Amino acid sequence: MDPVRFLSNRSSGKMGYAVAAAFADEGHRVLLVSGPTALDVPDGVDFLPVESAAEMHEAVARHIGRMDAAIFAAAVADYRPVAVAPEKIKKTGDTLTLELVKTADILGAARGEFGFRGTLVGFAAETRDLLANAREKLVRKGCDLIVANDVSQPGIGFDSNRNAVSLVYPDRVEVLPEDEKSHLARHLYQAVLELAIARASIPEIFINQPS
Ligand code: CTP
Repeated sequence: MDPVRFLSNRSSGKMGYAVAAAFADEGHRVLLVSGPTALDVPDGVDFLPVESAAEMHEAVARHIGRMDAAIFAAAVADYRPVAVAPEKIKKTGDTLTLELVKTADILGAARGEFGFRGTLVGFAAETRDLLANAREKLVRKGCDLIVANDVSQPGIGFDSNRNAVSLVYPDRVEVLPEDEKSHLARHLYQAVLELAIARASIPEIFINQPS
């Protein structure tokens, strides 16, 4: 907003960092593009820090083309201030109106604008109609999988080490029990691996040979 204030949200980044760690632990090369967090970068992960939705959009645009899988766990701001005040905004009136403008939908740009053809996974943080909203995002953003997260439940999700998610595929839903984010990340790793193998597999060709 100005030199001393910014807009953010309750997401800690823990889920995304746990996913990056799970893939690196399995020997994959991982690029973690992350907004500001209080977390340590997992071992064996390439790290690209960004500060705004626009910077994240640019970083993803630059690097996604050489990825086999892209997992969008960031709680990207949907709106940013129209203008950043060059000086600290002073406390003048009783109310302050901040005008916001939409940011680019980075995940929504993956298939079209970025031309990404690999395995694409999004997250959906919802306070109601979890599965219906997740399914709508799956289709709208061209994902292979949406990790649906009910953020209305107290004690899990935002800023917690635990979470309860459902994996929403085009043809089915897998409801996972509440668990540590590190365990959920390992489960997600397996799910992504299966999707990537299915995407890469060449249909078998049967040739009828005359006997
Ligand atoms: N996402 C993104 N860029 C944005 C907003 C969201 O890449 N500007 C990604 C998130 O990382 C997540 C997915 O889109 O993987 C869904 O995010 P979410 O906030 O649940 O959905 P929105 O598309 O922002 O829709 P709404 O806030 O209206 O539910």
